[in-house]
Amino acid sequence: MSSTDSATTTAPAAPAGDVTGRSILLDEVTKRYPGQTKPAVDGITLEIPAGKIVMLVGPSGCGKTTTLKMINRLIEPTEGRIVVGDDDVTGIDADELRRRMGYVIQAGGLFPHMTVAANIAIVPKMLGWSKEKIAARVDELLDLVSLDPDTYRDRFPRELSGGQQQRVGVARALAADPPVLLMDEPFGAVDPITRQRLQDELLRIQEELHKTIVIVSHDFDEAVKLGDWIVIFTEGAHIVQYDTPERILAEPANEFVENFIGSGAGLKQLTLNRVRDVELAPAVTCSPGEDAKAVLQRMNEAGGHQHAVVVDRRQRPIGWPTRRQIERLDRIPEGIEPELPVVGEAATLNDALDTMLVSSAGAALVTGRGEAFRGVITVETVMEAITRSRAAAAEDQAYTPVGTNTNPIETMPSGPTIASSGEDL
Ligand SMILES: Nc1ncnc2c1ncn2[C@@H]1O[C@H](COP(=O)(O)OP(=O)(O)OP(=O)(O)O)[C@@H](O)[C@H]1O
Ligand SMILES: [Mg+2]
Repeated sequence: MSSTDSATTTAPAAPAGDVTGRSILLDEVTKRYPGQTKPAVDGITLEIPAGKIVMLVGPSGCGKTTTLKMINRLIEPTEGRIVVGDDDVTGIDADELRRRMGYVIQAGGLFPHMTVAANIAIVPKMLGWSKEKIAARVDELLDLVSLDPDTYRDRFPRELSGGQQQRVGVARALAADPPVLLMDEPFGAVDPITRQRLQDELLRIQEELHKTIVIVSHDFDEAVKLGDWIVIFTEGAHIVQYDTPERILAEPANEFVENFIGSGAGLKQLTLNRVRDVELAPAVTCSPGEDAKAVLQRMNEAGGHQHAVVVDRRQRPIGWPTRRQIERLDRIPEGIEPELPVVGEAATLNDALDTMLVSSAGAALVTGRGEAFRGVITVETVMEAITRSRAAAAEDQAYTPVGTNTNPIETMPSGPTIASSGEDL
């Protein structure tokens, strides 16, 4: 399942990044809010492996946010221990702990009166970094989240789109290179297309950085897409199932989980396969203003391609003319074609199919880091991959992290009390 060991033919080999994340252990942790009869979190023991993405999902009020905030002690546990790596951090200074953990909330949670650069620089400043080191780090992070530093560093949050604000939120959380990233419904406030992009980007960043990331989500599809592991909670942060997305889909622990997964579990399998895991078709690329005859010649030499991809100076796709269109031209046009079907490498095959359906193109352009063009994915490739993955038996996990409660739930909530995924639970 690890993305780093599946080689792709078109993508340049990613640097074999070391795991920089650290494991987290919640050890019999309980949270009782004053005046509440039942604990919000009831004796949870949860092991979060280093370098993995763990998704916390479950109905509203089940204790997801409380569990997440106890990890960096934004909420103090009533009982129990929090261990990060080998350190028991239950008693250490909470401010110091928070500096070791990036925290991202909906819409980025940026300070409106501070520029993008100032927002990102908050923790490095507190840590006493030099001005030069901070400025370099800000630019590096903006690059990492695919925002051009010259364009964005001096803007204010109100001058950014929702998705851009969210990207800055992620950059800020990563500023001091913390081993742990905590995210509370980070992509809840953006439209579906932007959400897909941000999810892809997070996966790409994770491939480089290998942090330990804990994400609270309402959306089961998002959990399947992002999670190495998924925890499904019911009230009181009781763990109903803690498993890989594959196994939860194949063997839901009970009716509660089945209801939570919602309909179309078969289709959700599509969400398990990534664009980067399939072989992309090569394409002839060209530049705006280039001589059309020269491009046609390259298309012929490449075996009679029917399309060429126009890329800008940073290799980002801006047009996708057909052979016929090019034959009628002297030069490749300069303009940017609207609504090109483009997907990131970390996108799921489901996302890729969606994109193709919307553009009715039968294929989509695949981009990697910095939105640079990588290759073409076709409907046929997607179909083949689905057939293959159905045939492949579910891979056995050698190891399963611990997830229990001191007072396990004896009776499962029955009946359709849980709305299907995608709805506000
Ligand atoms: N400060 C508080 N004081 C009292 N009760 C609280 C407080 N914060 C949360 N709770 C209660 O604790 C329980 C868990 O809340 P929590 O915010 O962790 O849920 P959640 O799973 O994140 O829900 P949602 O999906 O709606 O964000 C809820 O019943 C909630 O009403
Ligand atoms: Mg919450």
